[in-house]
Amino acid sequence: MKGTFPINKFRELRTPFYYYDTKVLRDTLSHIRTEVAKYGNYSVHYAVKANANPKVLAIIRENCLGADCVSGGEIRAAIKAGFPTDKIVFAGVGKADWEINLGLDYDIFCFNVESVPELEIINELAAAKGKIANVAFRINPNVGAHTHANITTGLAENKFGISMQDMNHVIDMAHDMKNLRFIGLHFHIGSQILDMGDFVALCNRINELQDKLEARHIRIEHVNVGGGLGIDYGHPNRQSIPDFKSYFETYNSHLKLRPHQTLHFELGRAVVGQCGSLISQVLYVKQGTNKQFAILDAGMTDLIRPALYQAFHKIENITSDAPVQTYDVVGPICESSDVFGKAIDLNGVKRGDFIALRSAGAYGEIMASGYNCRELPQGYTSDELV
Ligand SMILES: Cc1ncc(COP(=O)(O)O)c(C=O)c1O
Repeated sequence: MKGTFPINKFRELRTPFYYYDTKVLRDTLSHIRTEVAKYGNYSVHYAVKANANPKVLAIIRENCLGADCVSGGEIRAAIKAGFPTDKIVFAGVGKADWEINLGLDYDIFCFNVESVPELEIINELAAAKGKIANVAFRINPNVGAHTHANITTGLAENKFGISMQDMNHVIDMAHDMKNLRFIGLHFHIGSQILDMGDFVALCNRINELQDKLEARHIRIEHVNVGGGLGIDYGHPNRQSIPDFKSYFETYNSHLKLRPHQTLHFELGRAVVGQCGSLISQVLYVKQGTNKQFAILDAGMTDLIRPALYQAFHKIENITSDAPVQTYDVVGPICESSDVFGKAIDLNGVKRGDFIALRSAGAYGEIMASGYNCRELPQGYTSDELV
């Protein structure tokens, strides 16, 4: 089954561009709200890194999510889109002074701190402003996730977070710092996780940590389990809404949350992944020795995921019903890794056909670059193209 697209409107636009189906986005957000409402003490922050298109951010903000940011630029984008500053969390291993100051100036909800030197700098900068910064520690739980190696983040070998061995010491340090308030623990084990067992492993690890902290009479108000819920890249139409029910139920069944605690989530891909497609046109069909190439006007500069981590995106020829043939679908960039898919079955392709690379709403437009002096792709919503 192919997706449905406003092809006539597409013909008026310059390709490549991103197309966001706002019905899918709104349905996704509505599912999240319904599931979260079952639990009372759950708070979902949207991970802005997945897609910071202002039109997309505005719809997410309307649905009352908070924002998870990893840079000063993302904090600015979130504030511009109207996210309340007291619902902004700020993570990242390398926060620059100006970024910390920005967070302090806006009194954001929490800094997710990833190292001792960072903790000291936040305390120093907060003191200079006469403020008290809320901090949570990002703990590296040494939990693996069944996903691509480049998107696991919770293993001891990854650069993220504070190790479990150092945790007690760092919490003691924070308690001694006058311009910090230690409010919670933060975790994030990776992205595109579909095996709920990985989240169960994280819950078990958090339960152990909480028991140890409780034994030391350390009170944690907020537990933030990050994001990571994956989407079905193979079936963007059949499975346009990720399995939020199982996801939240997993945490509800396995995490021993204390009655006073709030559980925070930072979902990116699962919120915006399925609503977006990269729309491109075929420039040439080229016969190779043993194969044929469909050469698109979109390349790895527009959607880098296949080149960066061999990611799969469903590819559809949305303007052809011709008999299916097999193509290597490639871009125009001067790199051999500029390939969207090899041996892909598509309805017979000719110059000018429109090709949709599906499930590209997350880590698509936001990762676009100007390599080869290319223009950045525009992003349009279905609301605009009626
Ligand atoms: C700290 C943190 N939180 C949340 C996310 C969002 O992850 P996802 O898009 O898989 O939900 C990421 C992604 O890398 C992250 O690093």
